[in-house]
Amino acid sequence: MDVTRVEDVVGDFVTLKKRGQNYIGLCPFHNERTPSFNVSPAKNIYKCFGCGKAGDAITFLKEHEQLSYRESLEFLARRYNIKIEETVEDSEAIAKKQMEEGLYVVTGFAQQYFSKLLFDSDEGKSVGLSYFHERGYRDNLIEKFQLGYAVNAWDAFYKTAKEKGYSEKLLQEVGLISERKENFIDFFRGRVIFPIHNLSGKVIAFAGRYLKKEENSPKYINSPQTSIYDKSRTLFGLFQARNAIRQHEECFLVEGYTDVISMHQAGIENVVASSGTSLTIEQSRLMKRFTSNITILYDGDAAGMKAAVRGMNILLDEDLNVRLVLLPEGEDPDSFVQKHGTTPFREFVQKNATNVVLFQADLLNKETGNDPIRKAEAIREIVGTLAHVSDPIKRQLLLRECSTKMLVDERILIAEVNKLRRKSFSKEQQQKPSLPEQKMLNEAAEEQMQFTKEVFIAERDLMRILLESGNKKYNDDSSIAHYIISSIAEHPFEHPNYRALMNEIINHMNNENTFPPENYFMQHPNEEMKRTVIGLLTQSYELSENWEKMHEIFVTEKETNYIKDADSALRRYNLRIIDRMIADNSKEMREAEKSGNEEELMKHLQVRKSLNDLRKQLAAETNTVIVK
Ligand code: CTP
Ligand code: MN
Repeated sequence: MDVTRVEDVVGDFVTLKKRGQNYIGLCPFHNERTPSFNVSPAKNIYKCFGCGKAGDAITFLKEHEQLSYRESLEFLARRYNIKIEETVEDSEAIAKKQMEEGLYVVTGFAQQYFSKLLFDSDEGKSVGLSYFHERGYRDNLIEKFQLGYAVNAWDAFYKTAKEKGYSEKLLQEVGLISERKENFIDFFRGRVIFPIHNLSGKVIAFAGRYLKKEENSPKYINSPQTSIYDKSRTLFGLFQARNAIRQHEECFLVEGYTDVISMHQAGIENVVASSGTSLTIEQSRLMKRFTSNITILYDGDAAGMKAAVRGMNILLDEDLNVRLVLLPEGEDPDSFVQKHGTTPFREFVQKNATNVVLFQADLLNKETGNDPIRKAEAIREIVGTLAHVSDPIKRQLLLRECSTKMLVDERILIAEVNKLRRKSFSKEQQQKPSLPEQKMLNEAAEEQMQFTKEVFIAERDLMRILLESGNKKYNDDSSIAHYIISSIAEHPFEHPNYRALMNEIINHMNNENTFPPENYFMQHPNEEMKRTVIGLLTQSYELSENWEKMHEIFVTEKETNYIKDADSALRRYNLRIIDRMIADNSKEMREAEKSGNEEELMKHLQVRKSLNDLRKQLAAETNTVIVK
């Protein structure tokens, strides 16, 4: 894939402006107003200096489009007309893929067929299109969701498909036709059609709605489960919503197809539907790939409330921030937004969105009144929910609020929640010995590696500034070298090469009282050290220089730049140190939690608070975006 230019691929999704040799734009992975997303054609990579996301064209597609490696290759192949070399696969896998490809072809054809009927046939226009228009859907929206119409006949679709040479086997496999008395009949007849897309925009299934209430016939009929459509792993509208979800860092979760479409019409595009069934783990994970903030909009009736509460623990288990908005009795998001319009809708949501745990506490409070027995049940119920909140800080805050709301001693809640968490933890362990532990170890190792990488980068930047400007004056009393060395004295570098280099510099300065001259390292007998220095001084760090330039646009006097560089690199270095302390703190909290040591946990929480404050302050000074 050498021919793919990263700036072209990224340019399909991000508006890029030329800045020197590179391009910059607004980062598509986090919300920002000033561009810190940098694309380097020379290196064929991109990097965001706000959130740290970086990589090549494939990484970009994987992250931005949520494609697999394979799908990213296919995307590039289509974009650049390249043939992908097939890797050797077993015949079973090839057969399965060919089968799936065939199903996509058939669903793609069916979608076009239904859409064409809607816009071009007499019946489609007078029945289907006018139905959508009556519901207030504009044509551009109908096209965006690729809505369609299936005529009221037994086998109109089958006949056309057969004529065009589509295989009966595949048509049957995706559930578009079924066999009846040695003949085939259409599955969707006399219904408006809502196609369901996968994340890359391919149609994988359909839902058909009747046009008026019919006896003995469900309002919606849906495609069956196939090898390309798994209902429990699909969210209606995600394909159309994913960019908006990322942009707003929030996802609205509604029940129905029409809710999604009406909200789009009102300009609210970060919305998906669970399609009337209770939410699955796979669906919550799917949302989590795009945002951690979920706002559930459910009908304001008893059933809606129950459905919301049912879906809740699954979302909490995935460590999502879940808020709930209950619409007025008898309204769903579709009717509400159509009746009131966009701004009042947004205001209503803003005003009524409640953390789902606190919502439950309120609900339970209302139900129990003064009855002590029901109150005990209510406490047990809220304890059950709180136990699903895995982040100890969030859990602590919610717990405190619940204790106030429900007038229960906080310590009782803490003790009960911990009991439950310990129980479910040991249950998990019994079922799958060592698996949860293994997972925790893996996660810890990964976290550790990530931090180490970031610390190394910060050390590298400091080292580079030290080498380039060490002998320059920082202020009247000290040089840049003195300043940097004294600032980091408490934390020796972690990278062995940088640490060795640093020691060498310190020794030299102690012995000779000056910073090593320019050619000192070039003639150094230690090859490794020489290589490290060359590596640091060559232009492969151009990107981090740009980081400075982009954030300090007003610096024009070249002479003073190295002072700013040193300050800013030190701040970033300190930020990494604090991150490391935060990570350690999390580990300690997890341990305190596991052993049920409340006092310890509280102590660590206190520490965490000050660390967070410190980090926020430093990050603000550093111009670094705080992720999370
Ligand atoms: N649903 C379904 N099959 C049914 C009924 C409902 O799959 N027989 C799913 C659909 O995804 C539907 C959602 O449940 O969108 C919510 O159902 P409902 O509120 O009855 O439908 P609406 O989407 O509100 O449709 P409309 O506004 O057209 O009545
Ligand atoms: Mn509705």
